[in-house]
Amino acid sequence: MGKPLIVTIDGPAGVGKSTMAKQLARHLSIPYLDTGAMFRAIAWKLGEGAWDWDEARIQAELDDMDFGLSGVGEDSVLSMNSTPIGNEVRTEQVGMWASNIATLPVIRTFLKTAQQGLGNQVSLVAEGRDMGTVVFPNAPYKFFLDASVDERANRRFKQLSDMGKPADLNELKELIAKRDHQDRNRSVAPLMAADDAITIDTTEMNKAQVFTALKDRVA
Ligand code: C5P
Repeated sequence: MGKPLIVTIDGPAGVGKSTMAKQLARHLSIPYLDTGAMFRAIAWKLGEGAWDWDEARIQAELDDMDFGLSGVGEDSVLSMNSTPIGNEVRTEQVGMWASNIATLPVIRTFLKTAQQGLGNQVSLVAEGRDMGTVVFPNAPYKFFLDASVDERANRRFKQLSDMGKPADLNELKELIAKRDHQDRNRSVAPLMAADDAITIDTTEMNKAQVFTALKDRVA
């Protein structure tokens, strides 16, 4: 068996990484890895305020956690301790908790090892904040998707409305801007494009255009 193929997609909250990662993974017939879901699942499991715990307490919890990945494309299933990670982690609040624990080296070290472990076994489209910079620095294809805060808040608003979930656009904008700030300015593995990543500003692009831009570069 050849070496697994790794494609990385990094970028800020609400830019459409998951949608593109699923589509690209389907196109390549490989799984996609939603690393934000790993941070969210841990944040959800530990609960509010865990970011203030001492490191030994967090490490003891992490010692009992492991992640598994199966399926292909949009049917990829990411599990924690054999239970698929569900929609309960996909709220803005859990996103903020995830961003809080994502500043902690103990969490990042644990997840980096888990993510690299998955990438050693199977080909992946891996999406997150530090896939191209820290976790898979040797990936042959790296993308960084960006878009204005207004556009990302609009996209999230529409996504929530389509699911029948009412949301406040201004509140979404504020939360996204706050999470961006924290993700870009933390001292460990901050959100940024790898030097060798292809950056695509998607503000004025629709999904089909973004997908074509990615697909055409992955030979
Ligand atoms: O992508 P998603 O919004 O689900 O990520 C939730 C949070 O997890 C992010 O705001 C970020 O703080 C953190 N994260 C990270 N590194 C990753 C993926 C997510 O720090 N690779």
